[in-house]
Amino acid sequence: MHAAIRFLTAATLFAGLPALSLVHAHGDVQPQPVDVSTLRPLGEALLEENPYRGDPEAIRVGTSGYAQNCARCHGLQAISGGMSPDLREMDSDKENDKFYLSVTLKGRARNGKVYMPPYKETLSQEAIWAIRSYTESRPKE
Ligand code: HEC
Repeated sequence: MHAAIRFLTAATLFAGLPALSLVHAHGDVQPQPVDVSTLRPLGEALLEENPYRGDPEAIRVGTSGYAQNCARCHGLQAISGGMSPDLREMDSDKENDKFYLSVTLKGRARNGKVYMPPYKETLSQEAIWAIRSYTESRPKE
């Protein structure tokens, strides 16, 4: 009797698992951490310029970081559907680099409405520069 109940409980738990991991794998609601272990560490102080520009490994890391965190608003493959700014349109220079990093860390809110969530708790500057390297690498129309 007790064994049967334990078995049932375990079966229910296991049955629930695939559904749970699906929600996580989908990755388009909660900000998703990005594995930056293959990139050169940058330390705590925020840089003013993208240190990885053009680096193929940073672009690779940024491709999945972008897909998991940014694509649902800024568009698949960085092609905006018009709902949010097209990040490919930001020129590759220091001024835009600083702006990109700061908007991504802080997010965007106006009059109490959140247009974009802040990523400072989820993404390191390594991850954000990798995402920046990815969006810079995408051809403009
Ligand atoms: C919930 C939707 C949403 C998500 C997710 C999102 N953004 Fe945004 N983002 C926006 C919107 C909307 C704006 C424009 C905000 C405004 O009008 O002030 C914006 C603005 C920006 C800007 C400023 C662009 C400009 O030209 O002003 C940058 C840079 C940016 N986002 C980067 C990112 C990155 C990088 C990610 C992923 C890590 C991300 N965003 C995730 C909605 C989003």
